[in-house]
Amino acid sequence: MKILVVGSGGREHTLVWKLAQSPKVKEIYVAPGNAGTAQIAQNLDIKPTDIDALVKTAGEKGVDLTVVGPEAPLAEGIADRFLIRGMQIFGATSQATEIESSKVFSKELMQKYNIPCAQSVSFSDYKKAKEYLQQQKAPIVVKADGLAAGKGVIVAETIPQAMEALSKIMEAKAFGAAGDHVIIEEYLSGREMSVFAFSDGHTVIPMMSACDYKPAFDGNKGPNTGGMGSYSPPPFLTPALAETVRDKIMEPTVKAMHEESRPYRGILYGGLMISDGNPKVLEFNARFGDPEAQVTLPLLETDLVDIMLAVNDNKLDQIKVDWSDDACVGVVMASGGYPGSYKTGFAISGLDNLDKDIVVFHAGTKLGSDGEVLTSGGRVLTVMARGKTLNEAREKVYANIPRIQFEGCHYRKDIALIKEG
Ligand code: AMP
Ligand code: GLY
Repeated sequence: MKILVVGSGGREHTLVWKLAQSPKVKEIYVAPGNAGTAQIAQNLDIKPTDIDALVKTAGEKGVDLTVVGPEAPLAEGIADRFLIRGMQIFGATSQATEIESSKVFSKELMQKYNIPCAQSVSFSDYKKAKEYLQQQKAPIVVKADGLAAGKGVIVAETIPQAMEALSKIMEAKAFGAAGDHVIIEEYLSGREMSVFAFSDGHTVIPMMSACDYKPAFDGNKGPNTGGMGSYSPPPFLTPALAETVRDKIMEPTVKAMHEESRPYRGILYGGLMISDGNPKVLEFNARFGDPEAQVTLPLLETDLVDIMLAVNDNKLDQIKVDWSDDACVGVVMASGGYPGSYKTGFAISGLDNLDKDIVVFHAGTKLGSDGEVLTSGGRVLTVMARGKTLNEAREKVYANIPRIQFEGCHYRKDIALIKEG
């Protein structure tokens, strides 16, 4: 088979790496990919949102299955465009992707179908939103409705902070049309967890869960990022909690999408908060997580191609998905200044001086004119190790990271350093 992977981050490098392990796969293209994917696949200079070019190239190259990494092309209807031509694609349709691309839609769905989530009210009128907020107590959460590259959620510690966020979203339109509607939501405390499930629209098969570290610095300090590291499995995910997540959240959501005539085919990602053993949804995404993919897909023992084809053929009930009992830890190495402004183009050294069971997934990297690997983005690499326990995986990662160097590099030192309780 020939596969086309759409995207250029660590998640997409992981997808390429995993798909390349399938005996069914002969050739993989990546649009646009990075220096890491260039080593195991063929990079194509096409943007993930250039759907015309992707449809055309997939046709010309005889691609059998296209796999979409990021949300932007899904929201713009890449799956719809491929499906209408009878081309195989793994990724939700634009209507199904609204579960991620419109927080108002997703909230209304959860409220209508009794899927546990934080209480919230949505507004399209700035004045009304302000009046409402004045009556509330902090901490409180303000969310822009649409896609805002992970920056549209503000957890405000005071009402003035929340007011500022509201004005930034609705008045200053810092996130453009994503701020035409806003959600004001109760603050939930507890432990965060990312859960995933494959769905063909009917059958739901849970995938391995993971914990993500969003803040930039140790101790969860600093601004939110796309994710600075991740580990899997979460030790607090008991069989009882997994069952609750499946029965009360993932299955009812796929059923609800079916009822709403938006059949959900692809991977469903729930960002959950677990308070006193009770999971509530913070958000849904219509794609794999990044960096969660880097620590969950390595644990998958079933052929990923078989799962993706079963999703597309409505045959997920005929597949058994197996996972390893091992643990994985992934630590993101980022450019100095990220998630704020940063410089790129620095040489990365030490990549060929790592223990052999370390896997480095590239994100913001590119090849220089002499074939050297250079930084080209905010999140540069995810360094991943696998172990019998989280501690073993963690120790392996941190023993290897200092061997990798580039100017200004920063990374968190507390990924998978788990406090009990
Ligand atoms: P989201 O994009 O909705 O997942 O929000 C981004 C991050 O903001 C989450 O990973 C949480 O850390 C935080 N967050 C979102 N909603 C809430 C909430 N209701 N209570 C507390 N924290 C939240
Ligand atoms: N790691 C968070 C995300 O993929 O949205």
